[in-house]
Amino acid sequence: MSDHKVAVVTGSASGIGYETALILARNGFRTFATVRNLEKAKTLSEVAKKEQLQLKITKLDVTDEKSVNDAIKSIKSDAGRIDVLVNNAGYGLGGALEDVSISELRAQFETNVFGLIRVTQAVLPTMREQKSGIIVNISSIGGKIALPYFSPYISTKFAVEGLSESIAYDLEPFGIKVVLIEPGAIKTNFDSGMVIPAKSRDSNSPYFKNMQQLLGLMNSFLQNGSLPDKVAKVVLEAVTSQSPNLRYTAGDDAAFLVQKRKELSDPEFKKFVSEFLSKPSA
Ligand SMILES: NC(=O)c1ccc[n+]([C@@H]2O[C@H](COP(=O)([O-])OP(=O)(O)OC[C@H]3O[C@@H](n4cnc5c(N)ncnc54)[C@H](OP(=O)(O)O)[C@@H]3O)[C@@H](O)[C@H]2O)c1
Repeated sequence: MSDHKVAVVTGSASGIGYETALILARNGFRTFATVRNLEKAKTLSEVAKKEQLQLKITKLDVTDEKSVNDAIKSIKSDAGRIDVLVNNAGYGLGGALEDVSISELRAQFETNVFGLIRVTQAVLPTMREQKSGIIVNISSIGGKIALPYFSPYISTKFAVEGLSESIAYDLEPFGIKVVLIEPGAIKTNFDSGMVIPAKSRDSNSPYFKNMQQLLGLMNSFLQNGSLPDKVAKVVLEAVTSQSPNLRYTAGDDAAFLVQKRKELSDPEFKKFVSEFLSKPSA
């Protein structure tokens, strides 16, 4: 067995997961870049081959228990250990709550929350046996700050924040660390992958006008967002630190917004968000 640390990243086909898998492999981690659709991993595979990186692409769909268990079992038998888990796979479900169906909400939680839990539970026995490991959960500033018309996504990221902070206590006696990464607006496929329920897209919805305005702003934030390698650098910093923080913000706007949330009272922050969102092409 080599003395390289072993890393597993979920949702590595694009965006933050893609850059994170690459930066870890480039910095000496034996990296298992997991994707739900192997077809989408061609670019990653080519880059890894060209740079002769220790990066192996593995199929893993976080919503499928068998897929998760099979992938983690095969990584364990291949590498013998797992030192780093980056729970990155996720997508955004927007919409006014009244317009969102329970099945759409369930699907959102199935990926962003239960998916993360499923992979974490599969990896924990290995980390516990080793008495070491680090779990990095890609949250969002949406896990600290609520924006309008995105309650489905925001709820999942608030859940990830609470879950991570709580399990950090449980896992400390076993030498396992937990880290939350809170990116701001990042230019990835997140924008094109965003799900907006049919009811919210229907002009008969009482929320339609406000929803359209918010979507326009969100699109502009994401298109002008930081590049995903900025987030990957923060992940690398966390996993190579002797004593990582519980939370790291990532991206140009993230620290500013989280700081504002800390400084302002609830009514002051609500006013700040309303003004921030009403700026023309903010
Ligand atoms: N972009 C932002 O502004 C931003 C800000 C804060 C937090 N985040 C978080 O960052 C993470 C990565 O998002 P991103 O911005 O890099 O967007 P992205 O480019 O759309 O990447 C998301 C990745 O997750 C994968 N994925 C989705 N469902 C999956 C499943 N069931 N099993 C396995 N993989 C799955 C996608 O695979 P497919 O290609 O097959 O769909 C895709 O590769 C997410 O958790 C997101 O919430 C993003």
